[in-house]
Amino acid sequence: MSLMKTVSDTVVQFLPDGKHNSLLDRDGFLGKPLVRVDAEAKVKGKARFTSEFDIPNLAHAALVFSTIAKGKVSEIDTERAKHSPGVLEVLTWKNMPKLEAPPLVDIGDLAKGMAASNLPVLQDASVHWNGQPVAIVVSETLEQAEDAAALVEVDYTAEPAATSFDLLKAEAVVPSDVLGEPAVISIGSVEKGMQEASARVDQVYLTPAYNHNAIEPHATIALWDENGSLVVLDSTQSAYMTSRSLALIFRLKPDEVQVLAPFVGGGFGGKGSLWTHTPLCAAAANVVKRPVKLSLSREAVYRMVGGRTRAEQRIALGAARDGKLTALIHTGITTTPSHARYAEQCTFPARHLYASPNVFIEQKIVNLDTIANTWMRAPGESIGTFALESALDELAYALRVDPIELRRINEPDKDPTTGHEFSARRLTEAYRCGAEKFGWDSRKPEPRSRRDGDWLIGLGVATAYYPYLRFPAKVRMCLYADGKAVVQTPAAEMGMGTATVQIQHAADRLGLPLERVSFHYGDSKLADTPVMAGGSNQTASLFAAVQAAVEDIHHELLKMAGQIPGSSLAGAKYEDLEARDGGLYRKGEKSSGETYTEILRGAKQDFIQVERESDPPIEMMKYSMASYGAQFCEVRVHEQTGEVRVSRWLCCLDSGRVANLRTATSQVRGGIIMGIGMALTEETLFDERRGRIVNPSLAEYHVPVNRDIPDIEVLFLGIPDEHAPYGGRGIGEIGITGAAAAVANAVYHATGKRIRQLPITLDKLL
Ligand code: MOS
Repeated sequence: MSLMKTVSDTVVQFLPDGKHNSLLDRDGFLGKPLVRVDAEAKVKGKARFTSEFDIPNLAHAALVFSTIAKGKVSEIDTERAKHSPGVLEVLTWKNMPKLEAPPLVDIGDLAKGMAASNLPVLQDASVHWNGQPVAIVVSETLEQAEDAAALVEVDYTAEPAATSFDLLKAEAVVPSDVLGEPAVISIGSVEKGMQEASARVDQVYLTPAYNHNAIEPHATIALWDENGSLVVLDSTQSAYMTSRSLALIFRLKPDEVQVLAPFVGGGFGGKGSLWTHTPLCAAAANVVKRPVKLSLSREAVYRMVGGRTRAEQRIALGAARDGKLTALIHTGITTTPSHARYAEQCTFPARHLYASPNVFIEQKIVNLDTIANTWMRAPGESIGTFALESALDELAYALRVDPIELRRINEPDKDPTTGHEFSARRLTEAYRCGAEKFGWDSRKPEPRSRRDGDWLIGLGVATAYYPYLRFPAKVRMCLYADGKAVVQTPAAEMGMGTATVQIQHAADRLGLPLERVSFHYGDSKLADTPVMAGGSNQTASLFAAVQAAVEDIHHELLKMAGQIPGSSLAGAKYEDLEARDGGLYRKGEKSSGETYTEILRGAKQDFIQVERESDPPIEMMKYSMASYGAQFCEVRVHEQTGEVRVSRWLCCLDSGRVANLRTATSQVRGGIIMGIGMALTEETLFDERRGRIVNPSLAEYHVPVNRDIPDIEVLFLGIPDEHAPYGGRGIGEIGITGAAAAVANAVYHATGKRIRQLPITLDKLL
């Protein structure tokens, strides 16, 4: 079932469109490049990640990882480990408390919790991936725990494991759905369309697996109180969903689990679902009857947390002489193990970007014996745009047309596969604006047409695309008689500036100065709602909830004012009011109104509190909604060594209204940097014989460093989307989309070599 269908089935009635922004017409805080409210805490190191917390009587845990991909633990000897200094307990499948299996991610039912895998947590001797935990050691100190973990002796009975993508891809199957969307779409006849074409491209694009490398490795601190309730500090993108997952695993009532995640050091999807270390830590704390901290080492993150799937994608494009597509084929094979269910949505961009009378889209999955693959920034769209946008570039050369012009020619007037109207779409404008700023027009299209000594210089473009997502969300809002407001919800702050933009927006809605509004987040108990920072949804989802809560509060205040003798708001209608200067006033009339303090004091109330859920995201069902952008990249490729340096970058985005220019720019830059890593340096090296990741460290898995990244200019068209709650669509993930293709296209322009396999390392260019 599609996500949208799920949402619509649970929705009884929706409130009409068009009422969204009435309180935001005047000049407000939203959009301003305000400095983050937590900037000082961040800079001074006061914004602590999970593993930086210390609590009394804390014990420390370390894990033992399997060294086979499939089979059984035939013997496990923990004697030496148990008698090692400081050791409190060693848990294996033999003495592990009985736990329920984790609830597998179900995007249609977010409230039930979400784990990346539904494998039981250390409940039997079976091994399902190379690196699966087979024991957890708890000691007085971290060093003692790690030392003792090395003393656990494990024998395995190995079974043949499915670990080779190349050997097994012929057996790939079509999954029941891809994130709720159909896995196969066929419109018209692509055979006919390809025959009719006067230019064709038909190529296979390969992307490796990628691993998560957030600045903060995952960590958990678990603590059971005397009533049997569980409190967990966890690096998670959703404190709420982690709490629900743990409640199910430990057979607790939802309110018996509290998950706290005040600051998260980057998530990118890797902290979006529950991984085994969190319940393992909670189980260990239960057994030793002390709080336990489990901080994953960098290597442990590779063993315990999945990454982006390897993928093989075919794009075939046919076009008539005028450049119009006659056929578009995008098929893709990705991997997932049997204990997970995630076909990464690599074909999503091809469903929505270009007009073609004939379309064929198909995704398949190969089941491998690996850790669960998972979301990684713009999962699907990032690798999908590498293939699609590389192919568009190839087609532009085949047609001898400018690649930007080719995209303009194929701009659809409605969504090519759903038939929906676009809520707003200004991709062509983004290209025009970006091209002008980047100096695209001075580019000679011929490869190898520009050089600087030994360096060949090339320019490339590609389209960035990420769908608009908004989920139902709830906030608790309290307005006090002293004129201060507090907004509470279990949102996550993983580096984006969550509190800052939420305060900007709530202050605008309430007509309060910024310093009178607080935003509380990172605690599963703040409101009963499955809020998560993922899918670039959180800002819009919460804005819609805040809007609804503020409307409720204003209605209540108006009622209160009506009861107060002599109130200047007596007889006023809600529609005639605006929130400003710390109160409610008749629109346009400077002094006809009252401050919140006056109303609440007049009504003898200390505060007013509401808990409100947003209106359902019906706009997603009615319209094709996405953020779009144009990526411009300049590379310098050394003719003798094949070294590629990205020397200039510009991204022009059509993402609607921008909530905060400073934090938004930073989000997009971060995405582009990840895209440059994806294009040039990052790659998970997977030993197919053993099914083991062999480069689990930042020394061998190369993320870009400062010297690899030029100045990145980010432009926003900033034109509000009237169908989004505040006029804005997501910007957290779109930066990575199109980025790898822009690099590959620039490398082609520089060298005449078309690289269809990432990363573009120098061996591929020599
Ligand atoms: Mo994002 S990959 O939804 O955290």
